[in-house]
Amino acid sequence: MALLGSLIEAGSLAGLTYLVKDIIDRVFIEKDLEKLKFVLIVVISLALFKQIGFILKEYVYPYALFKVLKQLRQEIFLKLINGRYSDIQSRQFGDILSRSTNDLEAFRNSMILVGVDFITQLFTVVGMIGVLIYRDYQLFLIFLIATPIFALSFNYFGNKRKKYSQKVQESFAEYTQTVNQTLSGLETIKVFSKKVIESIFEKVNQNLFKNQRKNALYDVLYLSSLEIASYVGVAGIILYGGISIINGRITTGDLFSFLSALLILVNSLQILQRGAIQFKVLTPVVLRIKEILNISTEQEKGIEFKEFREKIEFKKVYLKIGQSNILNNINTVIKKGQKIGVVGHTGSGKSSFIKLIYGLYDNYEGYIYFDNIELRQINIRTLREKIGVLSQDVFIFNDTVRNNLLIAKPDATDEEINQALIKAKAEFILKLPNGLETILGERGSSLSGGERQRLALARVYLKDPQIVIIDEGTSALDPKTEEEVINLLYNHFKDRTLIIVAHRISTLKMCDRILIFENGKIIKDQTSREFFDEK
Ligand SMILES: Nc1ncnc2c1ncn2[C@@H]1O[C@H](COP(=O)(O)OP(=O)(O)OP(=O)(O)O)[C@@H](O)[C@H]1O
Ligand SMILES: [Mg+2]
Repeated sequence: MALLGSLIEAGSLAGLTYLVKDIIDRVFIEKDLEKLKFVLIVVISLALFKQIGFILKEYVYPYALFKVLKQLRQEIFLKLINGRYSDIQSRQFGDILSRSTNDLEAFRNSMILVGVDFITQLFTVVGMIGVLIYRDYQLFLIFLIATPIFALSFNYFGNKRKKYSQKVQESFAEYTQTVNQTLSGLETIKVFSKKVIESIFEKVNQNLFKNQRKNALYDVLYLSSLEIASYVGVAGIILYGGISIINGRITTGDLFSFLSALLILVNSLQILQRGAIQFKVLTPVVLRIKEILNISTEQEKGIEFKEFREKIEFKKVYLKIGQSNILNNINTVIKKGQKIGVVGHTGSGKSSFIKLIYGLYDNYEGYIYFDNIELRQINIRTLREKIGVLSQDVFIFNDTVRNNLLIAKPDATDEEINQALIKAKAEFILKLPNGLETILGERGSSLSGGERQRLALARVYLKDPQIVIIDEGTSALDPKTEEEVINLLYNHFKDRTLIIVAHRISTLKMCDRILIFENGKIIKDQTSREFFDEK
């Protein structure tokens, strides 16, 4: 529809310039009143027609474009949720953020310029060239003198614009990244010196400015060189056209009709070339967006994991992230119903070990069996449904307490939610003035560290999983509360499989076995008694 609109618009415009000859030769020079009436009616109809085309094109095209953008945003978002964890984690979050905001915006801008307007101008150019050749092909040939200048300028400045538009997008990404990380580290930055982060920011900001400036500079140089080329052509036409009128080869109306078509042609060519340059600008932007869309998705097919029956078995498992060996030759069996404690120095690989269990990394070597099915063959969603995790970095999102809990069990009743909060010793939530409807602020900023942990623990109770994993989940609690929370935990999940990572070993007293990690290896696998006797 937009194309049809632009066809109508361009056709009407060609008709109008064609009529200029009749207006001048028949109406102005021959003073024909009948002709004037006729021309007026045609001009008004053409002008109306042109508006219809204009409205059609200007509404339908953005509509289609916005729809595409909506879908792109959706696809990017789903990619973030469903993409392979290791692929997403290896990127800078600010960069992903920038691609899903700034680059989409740049995409929109370029698409407006190269879209239907571009095609309208193509039609206009064809129409105008038709009028020009029909009016006087000799004059038209004169105008072509300017073509080489057009081509040269397009080539040179087009490539410059491509280069700098890519740089602008990159520096935008850096900028977003810097603001993003500053916000998340505000407390740290305030208490330490702000100088370092300020100078990082200044550099990033200056870079963005520099690239935007150069982008604008090449844009204007480019446009100006086009105008110079047009002047050369127009000067040739005035000279040759003037001579042609003087010696009677063409009429004044011919020349004016020619000139008005030419002015529109030049204008259209400028817009066209601008659009053609946008194609070059568009390429890097599209590539940046595509990179996100190309992140591979976690495998959602595979064998359905119906029930945890027997054991989890690690066989010669190695995990490498980038260049570093995170886990080395892990061999162990966790039987159903066992309570496993995991200890070890900071950075020894405990969290990485349990992340493997809930399938965050699929790039490990060796084998991890759940009841004799290799992890990579299991439909990861069905496996995660059976696992509850309280991780070291508690994630609370900016919404109500209720929604923060419902992610564990979307159809939970108020009664179930209350029970879970009580088990997690998070009754304080119920005493808040707005109770479950309390909004928690970004990353749960309105809660204390220990409150956040207990709220996150309530999610585990709500999910009621077959395998429970607690990674330093009670580290922010005072010893007395921690003990109570841990006792409740063992009690509630006494027939489930429980894996607890802890630095405070008092929380592991009720474990059956303790795995001791060092440098990415399990160096000891002891019964709880052996472990505490050694201590
Ligand atoms: N995404 C990652 N990229 C690179 N290295 C990583 C990544 N995640 C973890 N590591 C490295 O792997 C090692 C093990 O990390 P892990 O989080 O498993 O340790 P941990 O035993 O849980 O430590 P802590 O007791 O401090 O929580 C560390 O040296 C860490 O720097
Ligand atoms: Mg850890």
